Amino acid sequence: MRFPPIRSGRLIPLMALSLLALFAAGCQREPTPETATPTARPETAVSAEDRDEHSYAEPEKVVIDDLALDLALGFDSKTLAGTATYTLDWKDDGATQLVLDTRDLAIDRVEGQTDGGWQPLQYTLDAPDELLGSRLAIETPERNALVRVTYRTSPGASGLQWLEPSMTEGGELPFMFSQSQAIHARSWVPLQDTPSVRYTYSAKIASRPDVMVLMSADNDPAAERDGDYAFEMPQPIPSYLMAIAAGDLVFKPISGRAGVWAEPAMVDEAVEEFADTEEMIRTTEQLYGPYRWERYDLLILPPSFPFGGMENPRLSFITPTVIVGDKSLVSLIAHELAHSWSGNLVTNASWKDMWLNEGFTSYVENRIVEALYGKEVADMEFVIAREGLQKDLAETPSELQVLAVRPGDARDPDDTFGAVAYDKGAWFLQFLEERFGRETLDAFLRGYFDHFAFQSISTATFVEYAKAELLPKQPDAVTESELEAWLYEPGIPASAPQVLSPRLGLVDSARLAWLGSAQLPPQSMTAEWTTQEWIHFLEGMPETLTLEQMSQLDTAYSFSGTPNGELAMRWYPLAVRSGYAIAYEPMSAFLQRIGRRKLIMPVYEALAQSEQGLAFARRVFERARPGYHPITIASVQKTLDEAKPRPAPAVTPPPPEPEVEGGAGADGTSPQAPSAG
Ligand code: BES
Ligand code: ZN
Repeated sequence: MRFPPIRSGRLIPLMALSLLALFAAGCQREPTPETATPTARPETAVSAEDRDEHSYAEPEKVVIDDLALDLALGFDSKTLAGTATYTLDWKDDGATQLVLDTRDLAIDRVEGQTDGGWQPLQYTLDAPDELLGSRLAIETPERNALVRVTYRTSPGASGLQWLEPSMTEGGELPFMFSQSQAIHARSWVPLQDTPSVRYTYSAKIASRPDVMVLMSADNDPAAERDGDYAFEMPQPIPSYLMAIAAGDLVFKPISGRAGVWAEPAMVDEAVEEFADTEEMIRTTEQLYGPYRWERYDLLILPPSFPFGGMENPRLSFITPTVIVGDKSLVSLIAHELAHSWSGNLVTNASWKDMWLNEGFTSYVENRIVEALYGKEVADMEFVIAREGLQKDLAETPSELQVLAVRPGDARDPDDTFGAVAYDKGAWFLQFLEERFGRETLDAFLRGYFDHFAFQSISTATFVEYAKAELLPKQPDAVTESELEAWLYEPGIPASAPQVLSPRLGLVDSARLAWLGSAQLPPQSMTAEWTTQEWIHFLEGMPETLTLEQMSQLDTAYSFSGTPNGELAMRWYPLAVRSGYAIAYEPMSAFLQRIGRRKLIMPVYEALAQSEQGLAFARRVFERARPGYHPITIASVQKTLDEAKPRPAPAVTPPPPEPEVEGGAGADGTSPQAPSAG
């Protein structure tokens, strides 16, 4: 056994009791709960050493049970200002402080409710830690049931982006949105900013009357735009799922419980692209039990949104870069929807155990894709993810190649957004599926989501549960050392099931043939290719191609200027490495139009390899920066600051000056562009 003793031994008593009960019950399934919203708040199953190192909060002393926000949204000042009122559940009779996480917040006053009304409370706001922000310690000798903080955010809040009207589709109204995961909620609300604490919330938001405001709560599709908005979130959520957005947003339904919020010019396209959302919800319900969050809507953000998607409850935030016209990138929706079970219902207790959110979700995502679009498509996506994982592993230090990251190893959770938690995590579940059979694993997962619904758990708790509920189903299926290898060892265990994709195999043959003979695959073949096949075609290219080869590909397929970000993020780095100067102009436009980290970072990283490329990247970044989200700015800045470029080889022509946005090919209107279909 290599499980550290604490991981199996020191669960909080309630958890230990429920585990005992499980053993005593002879591993029977939990009954499916009838209610959508939990009535009693279950204890969080976290051992002392699994504590969240990314938060100053002390949830063993006191927890926030409910949060009431009353905020004014100021587009001109780029601030949110008002009050946060906490209903507290004091766990420790000796506790005299409420410790909250904040980052760049101006605290005006702190009050506690007493019999005599609201009374001021003493507090100290520590100097900021670069990663964690400022610890706010509020003196609460009376352990008030209600505490209220009056505060204001900073215009540079790391979890908010404020966009000028010119940066929106419509160009008339400003836009703002939050991105709280992993530890940015604290930059717009003082909170116990840890996924181990869950609370219900309500909010009153005052804004200019011509913008619509939405939150990760009970958005009303018929809400009037009047500048006065009220929200309720009756299901308890962790802080990283707090979300707000405001702009020229209109609603269009997909089904009775699902729909799209977007700028008017985008909404029809988005509804068409994401028309399968209701079927995805029904599929997941059949697999893993009821959808417990009532509505499921999608909010389409401007292209500066730093992620592909964010699973904010009831309202997933979605990048517009997956709207490519043929539904080929809708696995993103399957992914964010899947979080409604893995992540939002059963939550990682700290970011060390992020695989519990992202690995489970990537597995469920693939199951949804298989159910809706067939096994061939699901297998292509799995194989592509695995290829990405192999590349990622080559650059990941061994302590971050494990699923269950050890205390101290993941300093900045924004940096652990790598393939390990996602794709190694999903691969592990696929391994369990292979060994136990789909029926057994599905029943286990359904029981897992029910059992831990609205709780935050660690890997240790998962292991205990799997040992009680899954392993005994077929005692010879998986050994403990296999389980340990998956969770606690770097790299990919030898027991990993291999998936082959014949369709991607054909792409390999086509690429090889072209590399050998300069003979491009027949048009009748490539006409059938989807985004996944094009991704694979580019992904398998050698480090560099000759200028003739680049030009032949570009002439045939118009990769430069492609509107498909998944192709752009692979083509432009290849162009940079190959010294293919023609791509620089559309590449510069791409970097200025898109702020999604996953798509643009590979391009910046490729540029940062050479001195000339780095100089070009710096110039582009300077232009792009005002339109980037703070999270994207931080990532690009870090890559450029830490670059170790080598001098360019003499054959490489100097890159041209970056064009301002709107340069040729920026919108990828070329008729031959493989827009994936
Ligand atoms: N929850 C993540 C986004 C996230 C992770 C934000 C970590 C901050 C820190 C979201 O569900 C996600 O995984 N998005 C992916 C989607 C993809 C894997 C389908 C993305 O943004 O690319
Ligand atoms: Zn995710």
